[in-house]
Amino acid sequence: MQTPHFQRTASIEDRVRAVQEVLDARGLDASRGAAELDHAAQEEWVPRNGARVVARAWVDPAFKARLFDNGIAAVTEMGFPMPKHHRHLVVLENTEHVHNVICCTLCSCTALTLIGIPPDWYKNLEYRSRIVREARTVLREMGLDLPESVELRVWDTTADTRYMVLPQRPPHTAGWSEEQLVDVVTRDSLIGVSRL
Ligand SMILES: [Fe+2]
Repeated sequence: MQTPHFQRTASIEDRVRAVQEVLDARGLDASRGAAELDHAAQEEWVPRNGARVVARAWVDPAFKARLFDNGIAAVTEMGFPMPKHHRHLVVLENTEHVHNVICCTLCSCTALTLIGIPPDWYKNLEYRSRIVREARTVLREMGLDLPESVELRVWDTTADTRYMVLPQRPPHTAGWSEEQLVDVVTRDSLIGVSRL
């Protein structure tokens, strides 16, 4: 019996180049589109945007109320509009007794304009499949050991509903300015795999 024959596939770079060439040849200017997307992903869609939103919510109760009421409108007001297909932004508040964590069980969806391009582990099947079944264990493995008394809520993102965690403000930051507070907010705390 012959062993199965697997055809070699081109590298990801070669495949991307081939698709770009075909699209460019048809006048769709894919190379420019890809460059623009790359720039946005590296320079504009950064976790610092989410950190700014969190810091504002910590110091401005009226803004925080608007953020819970209509997330998209509140972040747009801060200069962080979201793509049209992100139709809802739901902001999840962590407290002493409740901890929220987000995922996308299907693929990699997240509020990427606020949180940044999702890290590799967020897209990994291991995280996507296990966080919904054994969140406490997965979080512990990631370095966040929560007592049983803290209720865990796992939120599965969809194409049109995006989530962002509002971490608890660390007690040692009492009296800090909004600008100073931005610096303590991490990407992982916006996803909910760490607390501050
Ligand atoms: Fe997804």
